[in-house]
Amino acid sequence: MRIGTTLSNYIIENQRHTHGATGQFTGLLNDLAVACKKIADLVNKGDLLNVLGSADSENVQGEQQKKLDVISNLVFIEALHHNGHVAALASEEMDEVYHLPSGIPRGKYLVLADPLDGSSNIDVNVSVGTIFSVLKAPEGVDYPAEQDFLKPGTEQVAAGYCLYGPSTMLVLTTGQGVSMFTLNRDFGEFLLTHENIMIPADTNEFAINTSNQRFWEPPVQRFIDECLRGQDGPLGKDFNMRWVASMVADVHRILNRGGLFLYPIDAKLSAKGQAGKLRLMYEANPIAFIIEQAGGLCTTGRERIMTLAPESIHQRVPVILGSRNEVERIIGYHSE
Ligand code: AHG
Ligand code: MN
Ligand code: MN
Repeated sequence: MRIGTTLSNYIIENQRHTHGATGQFTGLLNDLAVACKKIADLVNKGDLLNVLGSADSENVQGEQQKKLDVISNLVFIEALHHNGHVAALASEEMDEVYHLPSGIPRGKYLVLADPLDGSSNIDVNVSVGTIFSVLKAPEGVDYPAEQDFLKPGTEQVAAGYCLYGPSTMLVLTTGQGVSMFTLNRDFGEFLLTHENIMIPADTNEFAINTSNQRFWEPPVQRFIDECLRGQDGPLGKDFNMRWVASMVADVHRILNRGGLFLYPIDAKLSAKGQAGKLRLMYEANPIAFIIEQAGGLCTTGRERIMTLAPESIHQRVPVILGSRNEVERIIGYHSE
């Protein structure tokens, strides 16, 4: 499509090519874009609106919530719940499935979101994001249950994220490649700026929180050790390291120039009874859909993320993703 096309036009154009489309999906993507624009505005104004800092509350995962975690979640609900495009919502910041009030028309979709990803960065003015995953809702069910959300990532009909960085960018897949849109704040529209994103298969850049190194499993220890040995080691090339600590920002770099992102399982997480740090349904699955659509891979080290059978909406998983050849190498180390 023409570079500079508005997101609204892009979505409507795609709807025309989809047999039997009713416009509900188009409406839903517009609602999501509205939520992202509102969150972008709040993140951008920050201290001016007194929205930085802690909310003095915890989410279901026992994590301290920031004011903007709570506010972004409200914006997400507000933008989606009464337009008749969704049947129910779920998010990192809500213990249970969010049911629509009675009297509001039920739509065909379920949406899961991480309303503010990387919120530990918000108070220091470093990039954060919003991640969303769209699934089909069960037909004729007014109050879909948690069970109705528990579909493998391969069932997603759309996934995306919005990155609140120097520019605000919305990155979207509906299963036909990955497109990037940049927000023009002057007239409040996302404009198409990149299409058919492809991640280079090879890379010499990795992202991992090395403060956890002593807790990693042997395959990850081995791989990172080999990266650090650079040209003198078995990989025969020097590596560069980056870690933003906002998954959205790290993934965005990888989509643009290749790379690896790892948040593996480690002994510290296992000791807390956690299967990983990142959440399957609203972090790993939507990002995996985007990464795979761009030719990359996303795995736990042992299994493809997108085919995992979820057991709960807040379930955690190990995540290793990015440039295909290096991810394959890490999978190989896990199977040895
Ligand atoms: P969230 O702010 O939604 O809880 O997610 C933060 C995640 C992810 O974005 C990031 O990659 C990771 O946590 C950072 O973890 P560390 O603080 O352990 O580096
Ligand atoms: Mn997150
Ligand atoms: Mn979050």
